[in-house]
Amino acid sequence: MRITSVIRYMVLLITLLGMWFITQTYFHQSWKAVSLRSWLGAMNKPSSEKLPQHKCGNQKSCPKNYFAFRIISGAANVVGPSICFEDLVLMSSVKNNIGRGLNIALVNGTTGQLLKTNSFDMYSGDITKLQTFLQEIKHGTLVLTASYDDAATKMNDKVRAYFTELGSNHVGKLGFRDNWVFLGAKGLMNKSPFEKHIKNNKETNKYEGWPELLEMEGCAPRKMD
Ligand SMILES: *[C@@H]1O[C@H](CO)[C@@H](O)[C@H](O)[C@H]1NC(C)=O
Repeated sequence: MRITSVIRYMVLLITLLGMWFITQTYFHQSWKAVSLRSWLGAMNKPSSEKLPQHKCGNQKSCPKNYFAFRIISGAANVVGPSICFEDLVLMSSVKNNIGRGLNIALVNGTTGQLLKTNSFDMYSGDITKLQTFLQEIKHGTLVLTASYDDAATKMNDKVRAYFTELGSNHVGKLGFRDNWVFLGAKGLMNKSPFEKHIKNNKETNKYEGWPELLEMEGCAPRKMD
């Protein structure tokens, strides 16, 4: 008599637990189904918020075996430059690793790994540090460069020659307070297609003593061999 009532209670308890479990699962799944449907509905609606996100916030995605990058020069002597590579910000004011002059990030052209970042004061700084830095760049390295404020006062022929070797067309003409963004490589490209340069010109400057900032996005080929 006592045993059977204990079993009865046990069965009742197990049944209730089972029902609770089924109810939980069912409602959970139906909730999921509903949200999936509304999600699909949202996908079909043309909405500017649903645009696909590309690496570095770029407008286009990069094909396989290309690295996405975005380089923004400084704005006057106020807003610092930024260098993004494969969706990682390598240099920026927030990272606190930029400065007036030339800002340079070195990346392994095969793996895409960051090797070094450095900022060189081109107005009053020690130019031999930059010469050594450029001289030591190894074959197969991508070089990402952004100017800030002034990138030319201390520029010399040796430094210009190193940048020309990395594929620059404009470094020879770079002058006081010009803006310059550049992606080159040691031994990968003869002439880099990734370069923008704007002259400091009183007639056309956006800011009082400086031209407007430059922004360049693109896909750099991975070194395959
Ligand atoms: C890039 O990384 C590969 C693999 O780790 C290495 O063999 C190569 O020497 C590196 N190249 C440069 C330029 O750092």
